[in-house]
Amino acid sequence: MQADDRPEQLPEPDAASAEHSRRVAAHLRERIAEAGGSLSFAEYMQEALYAPGLGYYAAGATKFGAAGDFVTAPEVSPLFGRVLARQCAEILEHVGGSVLELGAGTGRLAVDVLGRLESLNALPDEYLILEVSPELTARQAETIGAELPELRERVRWLDRLPEAHRGVVIANEVLDALPVERFVRRESIRQLRVEEQGGDFCFVEDEAPPLLRDAVFEIEDDLKRALERGYTSEVSLGAPEWVADVVGALESGAILLFDYGLPRREYYATDRSDGWLRCHFRHRAHSDPLILPGIQDITAWVDFTAVASAAVDSGAEIAGFVTQSAFLMNSGLDAEMQLPADAPLEQQLALSEQVKMLTLPGAMGEAFKCLALSRGLDAPLAAIRQADRTHTL
Ligand SMILES: C[S@@+](CC[C@H](N)C(=O)[O-])C[C@H]1O[C@@H](n2cnc3c(N)ncnc32)[C@H](O)[C@@H]1O
Repeated sequence: MQADDRPEQLPEPDAASAEHSRRVAAHLRERIAEAGGSLSFAEYMQEALYAPGLGYYAAGATKFGAAGDFVTAPEVSPLFGRVLARQCAEILEHVGGSVLELGAGTGRLAVDVLGRLESLNALPDEYLILEVSPELTARQAETIGAELPELRERVRWLDRLPEAHRGVVIANEVLDALPVERFVRRESIRQLRVEEQGGDFCFVEDEAPPLLRDAVFEIEDDLKRALERGYTSEVSLGAPEWVADVVGALESGAILLFDYGLPRREYYATDRSDGWLRCHFRHRAHSDPLILPGIQDITAWVDFTAVASAAVDSGAEIAGFVTQSAFLMNSGLDAEMQLPADAPLEQQLALSEQVKMLTLPGAMGEAFKCLALSRGLDAPLAAIRQADRTHTL
């Protein structure tokens, strides 16, 4: 996800968005009252993003692209999906089967991957999509129907993970959209909960429940040090469970998870003492999740060590952990970016801008990683060259 970092310049929402946000705020106030005065941050994030008919992903906000709040790699350029298709083709060649995409957004990535797989003569049995948002499911069907009508029949939406998937699983920027808990390290571990005061939402501290407390103790054990007093950050209690379910659904093949995130030792670095929340509104990035409920995106960077360790505990192997830039370069970005010699200058310049956005360290190239997991797959992945496999998690 890419947006400018200028929180002080948040634009005013238009009248319809402001009205929608008032409805979401009223819903959150109700939930807070029902819960006895406060919600954990994960509960607040769940409601703000996914409350049926109201949450940011569940309702009609534009979200993606120029008229929305952010862009993701597939929205930046078809190159992302076309290169990813090459890696999918290699995996499908070994194990056969289907592609399963989790959290497919507008359907853009599905169009690019499936279209390129067709031209590589490597069509999967099916292209399956598991999406939690009914609004986005409808948008995906529209995009795929309009842009790939001849392959529409090969696409099927699931309402739960399959029992024994063979092939590839892909998920771009899904982990960062899963609700996280917030905590503060004091003498004990404290949980940050959300209350309403004078019409606004605010954070209050309470004793952490056992699951959160134990998760923070485990982080400290891994780091071999206690976090400093006052240190504030996030923990995703849901991500390990989510990845365990995905690994459990894979009979053979690979899972490719793309997201912005870090290994644990960097995630909980001493100088990162206010956590990794990132909110997006009209292409401005900031870190206040309690404003603009229901009309701004709320995300958190991913602790990839936690995800990898849950995957291994569930029976997956780590095939590699690389930056998005390395993934794309190893998988054939050079071949995909070739234009005919007589291509117009504007087209060449546009393509070069897209490549920069996807690969440069200051753009999406370094912050975004690919965690590749495998099961019953003997061959190494082209995207993860030998040297890259030594990246430590
Ligand atoms: C930031 S968007 C990314 C969309 C798309 N992958 C892209 O790169 O443009 C997050 C997507 O994940 C979906 N999502 C969130 N939680 C999910 C879950 N538990 N299972 C499947 N999809 C989920 C959202 O509805 C949305 O489609």
